[in-house]
Amino acid sequence: MHLKRVALMTAAVVSIGFANMGGEKLLEKHCTSCHMASNPTAEKVKHMVAPPMWGIVRHLKKRLKGKEEYIAFVSSYIMSPSKENARFTKEAIARFGLMPSMKGTITEKEARIIAEYLYNTY
Ligand code: HEC
Repeated sequence: MHLKRVALMTAAVVSIGFANMGGEKLLEKHCTSCHMASNPTAEKVKHMVAPPMWGIVRHLKKRLKGKEEYIAFVSSYIMSPSKENARFTKEAIARFGLMPSMKGTITEKEARIIAEYLYNTY
């Protein structure tokens, strides 16, 4: 009985660990090639192809009300980016062009995992 409980707890801890890693790994795989994850150096700014990730997240957090609205917006925008739906700056679209859709690259579920990870991280 006792052993069984320990095994169950271990399984729960391991699966929470994987859930957290999921967001970070997905971000690395699909997003940070364009969106830098940390503060860019002056040299890197010259070669930027998209706004840094933390900048977008902080800006959107101010414009959207709460975690649910944030996750809903980010997970849907990355699947279908458009000028009309964009909540980040118009200057970003003018400078870098519209973000390419992630449809077919990631699933809806992965989009939500990424959005939640971003909300919790920045
Ligand atoms: C090929 C480069 C590229 C990749 C890969 C990419 N993005 Fe973007 N993203 C952009 C560009 C360029 C913009 C700025 C223009 C715009 O808002 O569409 C942007 C804008 C955004 C925005 C702001 C939306 C708004 O309100 O305007 C979010 C949020 C975002 N990206 C999230 C992500 C996430 C999450 C991923 C990974 C799943 C990702 N991006 C992958 C290029 C990219």
